[in-house]
Amino acid sequence: MNCRNTNMSRIWLATCLFAALSMTGCWQKMAVQPKVKAQQGNSFFADGRGSRPFEIGVVAQGEDFLQEDGHLYTGKVEGAPTLDSTKPETVAAQYHDTFPAKLTIDEGFLKRGQERYNIYCAVCHGQTGNADGTIVQRGFLRPPAFYPTTIAKGRDGEPNGFAAEHNSRGMNYLGVKGVPLWKVPVGYIYSVITNGYGAMGSYSAQITPADRWAIVAYVRALQYSQSDKARSDLDAAKVAVASPEKPESGKPNTELTASTTPVSARKDGSK
Ligand code: HEC
Repeated sequence: MNCRNTNMSRIWLATCLFAALSMTGCWQKMAVQPKVKAQQGNSFFADGRGSRPFEIGVVAQGEDFLQEDGHLYTGKVEGAPTLDSTKPETVAAQYHDTFPAKLTIDEGFLKRGQERYNIYCAVCHGQTGNADGTIVQRGFLRPPAFYPTTIAKGRDGEPNGFAAEHNSRGMNYLGVKGVPLWKVPVGYIYSVITNGYGAMGSYSAQITPADRWAIVAYVRALQYSQSDKARSDLDAAKVAVASPEKPESGKPNTELTASTTPVSARKDGSK
């Protein structure tokens, strides 16, 4: 017995020694090697800066990096008239009401938009865009619906079957009241996805620009398919451009309707 125990302890000792010796080889060389950390000083360079400035005349390369296509990347109209909330048309004119020329709007594009919408937006806006997503049912701020609709089952403090709000809060914030979401320019919806609005966060980190446009196309498809009112307005407008309704002299009018102004008639000639 004793003899066996001694043997066992020898084996243990040898194992421990081996382990201890082999661990001396563990040295985090990459972590401790000399290097320049971002924004750290460095005496090697004459100006004492560790992070090196670009050489004069360096040009960024690559389509995505430059993001030159403002329509595609921002949804906003370059050189649009100065935003003036007393002139509602200047608010709508900030955003493109067409899809970027680079994208092909076909069934596949819409399907992609549907898939992305169901992943990213339906939790709050509802699968049909009726502002009744699961998160909202559990108490998150209710967004405006994308078209006229009623909320069948109101949550705490809400009646059943009430008419959902459907006007753009962002347009309202900019000083233009009463613009239903099916009449905001597509570039505006793109901009909301990109930058967020109010309680809704930005989705620019999760969703690529092309996919954001695909979602916008699908939101339009939802508006078109889920509501007679939105469909007939979209049909009539061809392009949903906000313009003043019944202007009263001397008073800024903020009531809007869809106008049939063709896109090419825009002053900046944008499409
Ligand atoms: C976490 C919940 C949530 C998600 C996810 C979400 N939204 Fe929203 N969205 C909101 C809320 C809340 C508002 C209203 C914000 C406010 O009034 O402060 C809103 C507002 C909007 C508006 C209207 C802005 C206006 O002018 O009134 C649009 C358009 C919109 N969202 C589109 C989308 C799209 C498209 C997606 C998917 C990419 C999305 N949202 C994802 C919660 C969400």
